[in-house]
Amino acid sequence: MTTASPTPPDGARTPADGGTAPAPEAPAPTPAPPKSPWIFHQGEFIRAGDLYMGPGLQGLHYGTGVFEGIRSYAVPDPGTPSAPRSGGPETSGPDDDRDARAAAGTYLFQAAEHYARLHRSCRLMRLDLPHSVSELVDITAELLRRNELNGHAYIRPVVHKLALRPGTPFGVRLSGVSTALTIMAMPMGAYVSRDGISCGVSSWRRIPDSSLPVNAKVTGGYANNALAVDEASAAGYDDAIMLNQRGEVAEASTANIFVVRDGQVATPHLGADILPGLTRAAVIDLLASEGGPRTAERTVLRSELHMADEVFLTGTGCQVVPVVTIDGRPVGDGVPGPVTRLVQELHHRATSGQLPAYRHLNHPVVFRSDRAGTGTRP
Ligand SMILES: Cc1ncc(COP(=O)(O)O)c(C=O)c1O
Repeated sequence: MTTASPTPPDGARTPADGGTAPAPEAPAPTPAPPKSPWIFHQGEFIRAGDLYMGPGLQGLHYGTGVFEGIRSYAVPDPGTPSAPRSGGPETSGPDDDRDARAAAGTYLFQAAEHYARLHRSCRLMRLDLPHSVSELVDITAELLRRNELNGHAYIRPVVHKLALRPGTPFGVRLSGVSTALTIMAMPMGAYVSRDGISCGVSSWRRIPDSSLPVNAKVTGGYANNALAVDEASAAGYDDAIMLNQRGEVAEASTANIFVVRDGQVATPHLGADILPGLTRAAVIDLLASEGGPRTAERTVLRSELHMADEVFLTGTGCQVVPVVTIDGRPVGDGVPGPVTRLVQELHHRATSGQLPAYRHLNHPVVFRSDRAGTGTRP
């Protein structure tokens, strides 16, 4: 039995059967690898893909770092109906106060406040942050420009212990260790439903201030939040509500919590082992100054969660989110209530520069196309 030698798929004759080898095809041009985003690291702008930090990273080993989460918002032209540019937070404000609105453009929200908090967190953890608040805001604006992030975006600065200085013995410590600062930015619109989420009360208690201050955003402390989120999602909930060691309501995994009953608004006080959220502060102010109910900052009992008419969460990432069920029980009517909707609206107006009294919280980011006159000018 003979076997035919396999024919080349294109029918070409090979040297073995007397043909000539086909000219090697010119290699297809290799597409340029996608460029990794710009980040700010140790005083310079570099590509994320060029970042190298060694295996001895102290902040990784011991959780000795601090961070922030900051948002920028794309504000549409005041003359056009409100519309998000990149699937971002909903913009549904009335158009009757166009003159009071910020000009179209990109604005960081509460950037100076976030960097002031970052500085405070650094003080706690003996981290040397070599830039002032205003320098950090300017660096962030440049980072957005370099990454062409002129839609809704999220900025994550992280400052952490880097490496033992010469002569510092191996071990867990805050002194004798260098510091690293990295800032990254990514496009991000609303990622939590504005129409409500489910929460479960976690069996993991919030770390007390006497163990690890949660009023600083310390990276290591977030293992506590991660355990709570893990438990909540395994039980089918969207997020966890954490109680403090005294069994009082503290906060959600990455958001502060508000309860509303009979039109009265309350939120856990700053001694309840919570992060003093900047959105929380803005919401308390907005309600008071824009004709809403005043907020009592007090102890909130677990039972209040089940007797509330409304519960909502606030945070830079999640913004303002109604909680419509807790531990499987509906909150109030099980739909977002009027105070929650008012807070969502006020927050949207503040972040999109529609409230002149809050314009100082909107830091404009001027893009090169804006300067050239080909884009919108904040
Ligand atoms: C534990 C915790 N609580 C509350 C918040 C909300 O804080 P902010 O409104 O400043 O983003 C966050 C988010 O940073 C958080 O991580």
